Amino acid sequence: MAAGVLLFVAVNLACICVSGNLVSGERSFSIDYKNNCFLKDGKPFQYISGSIHYSRIPQYYWKDRLVKMYMTGLNAIQVYVPWNFHEAVQGIYNFTGDRDLEHFLDLANQTGLLVILRPGPYICAEWEMGGLPAWLLQKPNIILRSADTDYLQAVSNWLAVLLSKIKPWLYINGGNIITVQVENEYGSYYACDYNYMRHLWTLFRLFLGEDMVLFTTDGNTDREMRCGTLEGLYATVDFGTDTNITEAFSRQRRFEPRGPLVNSEFYTGWLDHWGDQHAVVDAQKVSRVLGEMLAMGANVNMYMFEGGTNFGYWNGADHDTRFRPVVTSYDYDAPLSEAGDPTEKLLAIRDVIKQFRDIPSGPMPPATPKFAYGFVTLRKVGNISSLLNTLSPLGPVRSQYPLTFEEMKQYYGYMLYRTTLPRDLSEPTPLISPLNGIHDRAYVSVNGVFQGLLERDTALVMNITGQQGDTVDILVENMGRVNFGSKINDYKGLLSNLILGRDVLTDWKIYPLDIDGAITGGWPHSDSEQFFPPPHKEPSVGPAFYTGTLQPNGLAWDTFLKLYEWKKGQVWINGVNMGRYWPARGPQQTLYVPGPLLSTTVPNVITVLELEGAPAHLRVLFMDRPQLSATAPKS
Ligand SMILES: *[C@@H]1O[C@H](CO)[C@@H](O)[C@H](O)[C@H]1NC(C)=O
Ligand SMILES: *[C@@H]1O[C@H](CO)[C@@H](O)[C@H](O)[C@H]1NC(C)=O
Ligand SMILES: *[C@@H]1O[C@H](CO)[C@@H](O)[C@H](O)[C@H]1NC(C)=O
Ligand SMILES: *[C@@H]1O[C@H](CO)[C@@H](O)[C@H](O)[C@H]1NC(C)=O
Ligand SMILES: *[C@@H]1O[C@H](CO)[C@@H](O)[C@H](O)[C@H]1NC(C)=O
Repeated sequence: MAAGVLLFVAVNLACICVSGNLVSGERSFSIDYKNNCFLKDGKPFQYISGSIHYSRIPQYYWKDRLVKMYMTGLNAIQVYVPWNFHEAVQGIYNFTGDRDLEHFLDLANQTGLLVILRPGPYICAEWEMGGLPAWLLQKPNIILRSADTDYLQAVSNWLAVLLSKIKPWLYINGGNIITVQVENEYGSYYACDYNYMRHLWTLFRLFLGEDMVLFTTDGNTDREMRCGTLEGLYATVDFGTDTNITEAFSRQRRFEPRGPLVNSEFYTGWLDHWGDQHAVVDAQKVSRVLGEMLAMGANVNMYMFEGGTNFGYWNGADHDTRFRPVVTSYDYDAPLSEAGDPTEKLLAIRDVIKQFRDIPSGPMPPATPKFAYGFVTLRKVGNISSLLNTLSPLGPVRSQYPLTFEEMKQYYGYMLYRTTLPRDLSEPTPLISPLNGIHDRAYVSVNGVFQGLLERDTALVMNITGQQGDTVDILVENMGRVNFGSKINDYKGLLSNLILGRDVLTDWKIYPLDIDGAITGGWPHSDSEQFFPPPHKEPSVGPAFYTGTLQPNGLAWDTFLKLYEWKKGQVWINGVNMGRYWPARGPQQTLYVPGPLLSTTVPNVITVLELEGAPAHLRVLFMDRPQLSATAPKS
């Protein structure tokens, strides 16, 4: 510790001497290699930053979260740009509403926060496919994150659009972006392709200019630093509370002998996969290690400061020994909760920051109010098999063998594969995916009767019965594409043939399902009531839709939706896709519902796609606090 403090003092004294040389009023941001620090307008500068992902927070809450970060004493934020969020269809760009990156940068600038921008093109972030658009997979053997020509062409087109938008927001051009990261932890990827990194370097320099500070971030091993760093890009490291900080920064020093110490991702918490214990990182440990790094004069970004939510289908997945999708909540046990509320961890961090810089005076904005709206009764709309006219208006594609989501050009959500039984099955007969080709879960019905499910890596065989000619419906769920490691070419749907006993199933009708399109178009409430089947007439097993309304009570406060007697599925409120629920697998038990999407005057429409089986009581519960762990409710 003592040595660290001395270093801090030395760095600052040396840097201050330099500031005299600067023409006053000139905006600049650079690296001072002589004195091992950043220089902002010619003066030594140390950033204390926090990560926030605009793609995980509705636009109406951006300002609230940024103000709370500013009031904690941060002078910067770190932001990922997810490519697939902005270019969902190749060549068609969306930068409006919740995707309005420039508005987000503007709000940060108004708040007084500098920006460390991480535009990828790959970002990891536990985000669907690490931010890469799934349409890249239309080339079957594309080598992502390499100098593959088709990949590079798509990257070049995207960066031409994105970086041109970014340029006016650079600090040196009058905006607030001080540094820009190139790629993301590239050293942990198997390809280790320097031609790719050099191509990115050329593009970033072309669009952002020679004066911009560009950097890389890598995990704290020699291999990662060797493959992830490049001459001309400042090398930084990332590590959490369990790492020896002296050793971590000396590794950075081996690759960057001079210049500022930077931890680009100091982990305040961690993510959850379905089936995990809810991850928690101790607040005292976070604040102690933060203090040690700041005392060394290091620049620190806390990952995450505000995690937010994987709404819709945006969660990613890991694939180490098996496929492990990330839960809907990205609370991350971060200093600001998923709902943007200050936690004890935030207060502990603020106390540390106070020792290093003046923090803004005035109170921390309070938590947004929460409301327990209580139970809402739902009724069944119908099973998936009976709703295909509504959900698949274009009808099926016929194919002898199954096609993937990517071949069908439907990249997210759910798709239905239909065929008929080739012969009578009076005895339970195994339905097998011999090549582990279920990506990721398949819900199997015969003549509309649910018979069970298959799951990638874990359940590759089930028994079915039926008669020759019976309809077999297989609803396949994309649980989110792999976002890290060598398996990011994560095709979805039925990737290989299914075998029934000794027969290969063939002659498929494949229905793309535009569930979100139907729901944003007003379905199911736009349907006349008489189409709703009477209650309790049908068994509530297998994939089916349910709907109900939350009556307005004049409040539009944040709330948390609990579906604990339900099995697994997806929820929409007023047309907005709130994400997946899966309480049996856990740990997440409630979904975050931002208040501003509720109406104070007209009934709020709740629509549930339950995939396995609804409870006897068709009801859901709105609570006033989250439950992210199956065992201990978070206070
Ligand atoms: C663009 O994104 C916004 C915000 O998510 C959305 O409301 C809008 O419908 C999208 N525009 C198009 C053309 O898809
Ligand atoms: C950022 O904020 C500063 C200070 O309020 C202002 O002078 C500057 O014009 C803003 N930059 C942009 C690009 O809006
Ligand atoms: C960290 O590593 C250094 C150098 O290897 C060692 O001297 C020091 O004791 C370690 N610190 C802790 C807290 O383990
Ligand atoms: C699915 O819905 C159709 C139409 O309402 C009905 O005939 C069929 O029995 C249902 N299947 C199941 C398993 O509920
Ligand atoms: C399928 O049925 C057979 C015969 O009834 C039984 O032995 C086997 O365990 C069943 N397999 C599964 C996966 O349920």
